Amino acid sequence: MNLRRPNALLPLVTLLAVLLAGCGPVRSVKVIKLAHALDPSHPVHLGMAHFAARLAEKSGGRLRVDLYPSGQLGSERECIELLQLGGLGMTKASSSALEGFAAEFRVFGLPFLFSDEAHRWAALEGEVGREILLAAEGKFLRGLCYYDAGTRNFYTTKRRVVRPEDLAGLKIRTQESPMAIRMVRALGASATPIAFGELYTALQQGVVDGAENNPPSFHLSRHYELCRHYVLSEHTAVPDVLLISTHLWRQLTAEEQRWVQEAAGESERHQRELWNEATRRALDAVRTAGVEVIEPEKALFQERVAALYGEIARELPAVGELARRVREARP
Ligand code: GCU
Repeated sequence: MNLRRPNALLPLVTLLAVLLAGCGPVRSVKVIKLAHALDPSHPVHLGMAHFAARLAEKSGGRLRVDLYPSGQLGSERECIELLQLGGLGMTKASSSALEGFAAEFRVFGLPFLFSDEAHRWAALEGEVGREILLAAEGKFLRGLCYYDAGTRNFYTTKRRVVRPEDLAGLKIRTQESPMAIRMVRALGASATPIAFGELYTALQQGVVDGAENNPPSFHLSRHYELCRHYVLSEHTAVPDVLLISTHLWRQLTAEEQRWVQEAAGESERHQRELWNEATRRALDAVRTAGVEVIEPEKALFQERVAALYGEIARELPAVGELARRVREARP
């Protein structure tokens, strides 16, 4: 290269300019940790994966969500508490696990609350559902959306349960939820709250005789290996909730908050579409593995727990009022 020629340096300068333009202004990427207790093949995890993908796209890569499933960063309750301290950005919790943080979430623990799926989503997506999502903001927990967690059904290591009487005297694991504990007691069993991740061992060692959960969780937790009877009592339809720590939320710009909220809404709709198929597949899988799936007369279970509505309305009138509004929600 003859450096005395006026244009000799031009290609070099252009190359440098292209390289610099490629680097662009130094852009910082905000990384949000999202930890939860479910298996990565669970449809609720897939909802969160969709949230992460949508958020990356909306923010042009500026907001990145790293997922930590299977209780890697702690149990459901520990993750909720980490959000409160600001040590974790996001988690997904069952609304039952939130009852201790805001009483409003108890409403979803009322047995046989929804007449069907359309009613459930009308309530969750309507004014009352959106209000409950924000009920724990004062406790540093902001709900962004709901995920479908279907309906919950009993399973036991011991006897077949066909009627509520069959639960009499059994030790049933519940979530850490005052409503679940009351419901199990109303059905004549004794309630033992245990973290989801510890339940397999608790069933194996006979600490409890049974539990209750939706089909994908029953299947993916492998509880079906120990519990050979699954009774479709469908006693509650407790939704899951995607949560962000208010410590993190307040650090986001208004634009970033909008991206997060929009991505959550889109993931809610996406996850709902996955649910029924995942439930069908889980039931097929456990049947194939030799589990007896029992279709009971649900009205018998419903009669046993009907009195809970009056009791809750008397003890917690605000929750009673929410229950009335949920029941009146129309698609
Ligand atoms: C459901 C729910 C989980 C919850 C679990 C439980 O699977 O989706 O969030 O942890 O129930 O029974 O604890």
